[in-house]
Amino acid sequence: MKSKILSLSALVLFAGIALFNACKHLTNNTTANTTMKDSIIYGKLPPDSAFEKTINGKQVHLFTLKNKNGAILTITNFGGRVVNLLVPESSGKMIDVSVGLGSLSDYIKSTERYYGATIGRYGNRIAKGHFTLEGKQYTLATNNGPNTLHGGKIGYQDVVWDAKKLNDQSIELTYLSKDMEEGFPGNLHIKVIYTLTDDNAMKVDYEATTDKTTVVNLTNHAYFNLNGEGSGAILDHLVQLKASNYTPVDSTLIPTGKIEPVKGTPFDFTTPTTIGARINEQNEQLKNGKGYDHNFVLDKHDLSTPVAIVKGDKTGIVMEIYTDEPGLQFYSGNFMQSRNVMKYSEKDAYRNAFAMETQHFPDSPNQPQFPSTVLKPGQTYKTISIYKFTTK
Ligand code: BGC
Repeated sequence: MKSKILSLSALVLFAGIALFNACKHLTNNTTANTTMKDSIIYGKLPPDSAFEKTINGKQVHLFTLKNKNGAILTITNFGGRVVNLLVPESSGKMIDVSVGLGSLSDYIKSTERYYGATIGRYGNRIAKGHFTLEGKQYTLATNNGPNTLHGGKIGYQDVVWDAKKLNDQSIELTYLSKDMEEGFPGNLHIKVIYTLTDDNAMKVDYEATTDKTTVVNLTNHAYFNLNGEGSGAILDHLVQLKASNYTPVDSTLIPTGKIEPVKGTPFDFTTPTTIGARINEQNEQLKNGKGYDHNFVLDKHDLSTPVAIVKGDKTGIVMEIYTDEPGLQFYSGNFMQSRNVMKYSEKDAYRNAFAMETQHFPDSPNQPQFPSTVLKPGQTYKTISIYKFTTK
């Protein structure tokens, strides 16, 4: 009897594991995708209902974009964020390379605010929450030690965007960031369009206009694991950055103002190198960032060639990033502390994901030698970043 119960439990356990694994790496077939979408416990795609809620009078949804290859991008208008990004690995299996949470309530309670989100009004840090513009001093909400990070206490990751699905592969999100929101001057009208292209790329188009001179630095804070969310640390991912220079920082991660060559330092990713190869070396900059958490100065940023190429060691999935932004913050997940339970029920453990935030340099409003982030009335802020997935 006892052994029957034991073998029955083993069978149930085995079936559970098999189901979990089957669901974890979706096969490239619509039936499987549909089944997954309905599955709450193991589903790769959360059910739409997990995102349906009205917040401050605005309706939140989960939107699904699909391309002709069966790649899937899901976006919620809460924070304008990427939730799932399923792209094929070489065998054709679909892998979710976006690390995120499984429901709106999880995003609301998460200790990490930025999973997949659109970041603004100013992505990255502004020293001590101050800057001067046209002779006037502005004071921002500070939320990262002495500094302002990613727009302040309530950045764009925490607001509900208006959403309009343009077609099966594109969605437009808009948000009015009011004059003096978090201390920034000017009513800023923002439009962000996410497109899942037929060459398996997530394209993000940003546009903004203002009615008062302001500073703007929008980015996306997707957390990636190219081996698939839930597959452990990203230290064996191979990274190449087309950046001969970077902006070193102080212990609060504010740039010192210098632009320094990466040559001969652990910041030299000009040839493909694993994230983990030098991350624990004795180096003052690595100490300040607790790993990589630095802005790289891109050699060329005209969308003609990738500025970053990253490869997942287990799946062979390669992500190429194209941008017209001058900088890229490479963050190796150093502050991840297993505090949140992610989409596939694993915790967001130390360095289990990385971010590559295309951007202007941190603290530019206080560093006149950096490319300007000032936007004036009558001008249109426009920038594009593309994350393209292939296999090798
Ligand atoms: C910052 C990190 C921060 C992370 C998530 C990155 O852009 O540079 O320091 O921990 O965002 O909040």
